[in-house]
Amino acid sequence: MNNNSHNHLLELEGVDAFYGAAHILHGLSLHVQAGERVALIGRNGVGKTTVVNTILGLAQLKGGAVRFGQKVVGRPRAYMAAQHGIAVVPQGRRIVANLSVEENLLLGAAVGRKGPWDVQAVYKVFPILQERAHTPGTALSGGQQQMLAVGRALMANPGLILLDEPTEGLAPVIVDQLAVVFNQVAEQGTALLLIEQNMSLVVRVAHRYLAMAKGSVVASGQVLNSRDGLHDLEQHVMV
Ligand SMILES: Nc1ncnc2c1ncn2[C@@H]1O[C@H](COP(=O)(O)OP(=O)(O)OP(=O)(O)O)[C@@H](O)[C@H]1O
Ligand SMILES: [Mg+2]
Repeated sequence: MNNNSHNHLLELEGVDAFYGAAHILHGLSLHVQAGERVALIGRNGVGKTTVVNTILGLAQLKGGAVRFGQKVVGRPRAYMAAQHGIAVVPQGRRIVANLSVEENLLLGAAVGRKGPWDVQAVYKVFPILQERAHTPGTALSGGQQQMLAVGRALMANPGLILLDEPTEGLAPVIVDQLAVVFNQVAEQGTALLLIEQNMSLVVRVAHRYLAMAKGSVVASGQVLNSRDGLHDLEQHVMV
């Protein structure tokens, strides 16, 4: 197709979003095309999670446009994102307490499509989840819960995964394991929108970055996997 927008899985155009009277996103624009690996970076409190919350209907969209694929969505809701093949790994993981690891995974398939990801495929990339399949999800360590949250999102066979600070508070060895899986997921053609403050992960996974400040995107570019690239990115997250 000639028109690039035909490939957009997600687009926010001039978005203004609020929590009650608090105006958080100011004319924010971004898009993710099929198969892209985009990092969304920025300091604490700039509005990164509010981008996700706007997509899920947890922050109020009052100006601009949100599109899931070609569809303009006036009042976005979580189920609409899911129907359009957009899965979310929320900040803080949100594992369902009363369900086992395997039940948490199956929950992810409930709104899903057909594709390569099923319970066995998730166990293959995260073997520890198979060992702990019948353990309550919340009995897992922080790193294992994050693997479960990622696995649950993959179970939907999404076209796009939004990952909100998936490595926050995790040990470097776990971050390395997640980086391998994110790359594998991207190589299989799933687009990533990776919200991160860990720039060493960003350079390993993302190809393009968007930097936010005060509720809008203020810089963007290619991610260079080099020391200079790392240094450039870190400017956007340093306090
Ligand atoms: N439910 C809420 N009601 C009112 N204000 C909120 C709410 N949630 C977040 N905020 C405010 O919105 C702004 C953006 O918060 P947001 O969580 O989107 O930032 P963030 O970039 O994700 O930060 P972090 O890196 O710490 O996760 C902050 O000033 C925050 O205090
Ligand atoms: Mg956040």
